[in-house]
Amino acid sequence: MKKVITYGTYDLLHYGHIRLLERAKALGDYLIVGVTADDFDKSRGKINVQQSLSERIEAVRATGIADEIIIEEYEGQKIDDIIKYNIDIFTVGSDWVGRFDYLKEYCEVIYLPRTQGVSSSEIREKSHTVNLGLVGDSNYLIKVAKEAKFVNGINLSGICTVKPELFERNIGFVTSSFDELTECSDAVYVHAHPNKHYELIKKAVSAGKHVLCESPIAMTKAQCKELFNLADERGLILTDALRTAYSTAYHRLLLLIKSGRIGNVISVDAVCTSLKDRTELENMELDSVWNSITAWGPTALLPIFQLLGTDYEQVDLAARYIDEAKTFDAFSKVAFYYPGAVASIKVGNGVKSESELIISGTKGYAYVPAPWWKTDYFEIRYENPADNKRYFYQLDGEGIRNELVTFVKSVEKGQNDFSISRNVSLKISELMEKFTAKRDVRMI
Ligand code: CTP
Repeated sequence: MKKVITYGTYDLLHYGHIRLLERAKALGDYLIVGVTADDFDKSRGKINVQQSLSERIEAVRATGIADEIIIEEYEGQKIDDIIKYNIDIFTVGSDWVGRFDYLKEYCEVIYLPRTQGVSSSEIREKSHTVNLGLVGDSNYLIKVAKEAKFVNGINLSGICTVKPELFERNIGFVTSSFDELTECSDAVYVHAHPNKHYELIKKAVSAGKHVLCESPIAMTKAQCKELFNLADERGLILTDALRTAYSTAYHRLLLLIKSGRIGNVISVDAVCTSLKDRTELENMELDSVWNSITAWGPTALLPIFQLLGTDYEQVDLAARYIDEAKTFDAFSKVAFYYPGAVASIKVGNGVKSESELIISGTKGYAYVPAPWWKTDYFEIRYENPADNKRYFYQLDGEGIRNELVTFVKSVEKGQNDFSISRNVSLKISELMEKFTAKRDVRMI
C-alpha cells in the first residue's frame, strides 16, 4: 500500500484545497492530511487564520478525501511523521517548490501545481476589509502601520496628524482634518495625547466608527463609561490598545498563574521605565507629552488588575514632578492593597530602573525580565532551582499584530473579543483621574 502525506492550514476550505487533496490521494492508496495547530501557524507567521483547528479538521474530514487526519504541532514534525507512518510520498502545492527537498532523504517529494486564482488569504481579505485610519503624532504609529500590513482584512485609510513630515513616506493619505480621515475609515486607531482621547473617541463613535485607542481611553472614569455607553448604543467596538495583552508570552503567563502554578498570588510588582534626553524634556511642551503615568501606567497596571482584580481596598500614590505646574511626573510609584495581596507599579519617563515584572506566590514566583511588556520569555522559579522552568514564545510585532487581528475579528463579529475587560479600562481611567486631580498624591 502506497502511503501519501500532505499538510496545510485549510482555513475557509476552498476549491484549491480540494483539488490538491484529490490529486494527493490519487498519488497512492492511503492519504494522511496534517492540519496545522493554531500555535504552530502563529509561530510561522500565519496569524490571521479565521477558523479554529477543530473547524478546519472538520472541513477536511467532510471532503471525504482523507483517510486519516493528524495535527501538525511543531517544526520538524514532518520528518517524525514520515518515519512514524511509513510514508512513501510527501506532497504539497507548487507554492512550496524546493522548500521540502530535505524530506527526499526519507521519501519521495512531489510538488503539485497550485490552483490559480484562489487562496485562503484572498477569501479572508474579501470577506471583511476594515479601513483603518490612524490618529496621532507619535512615531509609534509608524510601527502600527507596519504591523497592519501583516493583517489580512485591514486597509490603512490614512493618518490624521499635525506632523505630516513623519508619516508621508510610510502612510499614504495624510491629513490634519479628523473629519476627513473618519469619512474614509470604518475604524480609527487613536494614539494622540491622552487629554485628547475623550473628544476624539466621542467624535469617531458619533460618526459611526469603531475605535482602538491607546490606553487610557479617557482621563476620568465617568468619561470612559460615557464612551463605552455611546459605543454600545451604536453597536460599535471600543477598546484599549495595549500591545502587551496580546503578546503570547504575557497571555500564557497569566494562564499559568491563574491555574495555580505559583500558588496564591501575594504580590504583583511591575516596573516600566524609559529615559528621555534631558534637553528633549526641557524643550517639550510638558502638558502635551505623555508623562510617566499616562505613558506607562496602563501597561504596568495591566497584570495587577488582570491577576488581582480591580477591587483593591487602598491605593497610595507618590510622584516626582519636574515642572512647577506639576503636570509632568518623571517618576511615579503606586501601591495597591487587596485583601490578602499587595501590588505596586513604578513608572518612569525620565527615570530609569530595572523594568521587570515579578509575581510572587505561595509556591514560587514568576519572573519576566526587562522589558517585560514586550517579552517572548519568562521563568517560573521555585525554592529549589532545579524545579525552575523557562518558557519561550514567539513575539510578532511586539503584540501589535495580534492586537490588530483581534480588533478586525471583533469588528467583523460585532462582538468584543478583547482580552482587556471593561472593568480594567475603567479602573485605568479612574487612576489617571486621581493622578490628574493630584488627590492623595504624595509629592517627592
Ligand atoms: N493549495 C493549492 N492551490 C491553492 C491554494 C492552496 O494547491 N489555490 C495547496 C497548498 O499548496 C497546500 C494546501 O493547498 O499544499 C494547503 O494550503 P494552505 O496554506 O492551507 O492554503 P492557502 O489558500 O495557500 O492559504 P494562505 O492563503 O493562508 O497561505
